[in-house]
Amino acid sequence: MDPALDSADVVPLLTEAQIRDGLERLARDLIRDYQNDEPCLVACLRGSLVFVADLIRRMPISLRVDFLHASSYGNNTVSSGTVDLRLVPDPNEVRGRRVILVDDILDSGRTLHAAREKLMALGAKEVKTCVFLEKKVLREYEQKADYRCFEIGHEFVVGYGLDYAGRYRNLPYLGILKLPGGANS
Ligand code: IMP
Ligand code: MG
Repeated sequence: MDPALDSADVVPLLTEAQIRDGLERLARDLIRDYQNDEPCLVACLRGSLVFVADLIRRMPISLRVDFLHASSYGNNTVSSGTVDLRLVPDPNEVRGRRVILVDDILDSGRTLHAAREKLMALGAKEVKTCVFLEKKVLREYEQKADYRCFEIGHEFVVGYGLDYAGRYRNLPYLGILKLPGGANS
């Protein structure tokens, strides 16, 4: 396989500058709402790794960070429908605290729904959701994120942490993946 990332398969959707502006706006809202509470940001791995790293560096308030590993896609562009929570945060970080549950994208809402239940079971005082992207689709769970950077259509996107079959996470911008014969082609 060609070791280079084939960005010819990706149509740019959000530039690095647009992403920076979205992050600044979001960080301002979070600082306003959480500056006196030392919240815990719980980031869903692996997709939110780039987003959460960029976001917390724009939040000069006391906060904590922990992780949760959720997986439902495997090597597909359609969710398998079940969410596997493989790693959960330290209960001591979450118990009695206002939690900001961070993910790359809100699609069907299953991931955030399962993660929210887990965090409540661990004793979080409150759980609000914060996503880099919210897809404009009808959802069964988690209709809207409490905080979001951008709203997009139903296309399958990659880059800025989001992957297709494990690839493209390291693209610094966001793009629509051209799938041969697929929904995005
Ligand atoms: P949900 O559980 O259907 O809301 O899906 C959320 C998870 O699916 C996210 O954490 C992403 O990892 C993945 N996902 C959903 N849509 C996309 C996409 O367009 N590109 C890459 N990953 C996606
Ligand atoms: Mg993910």
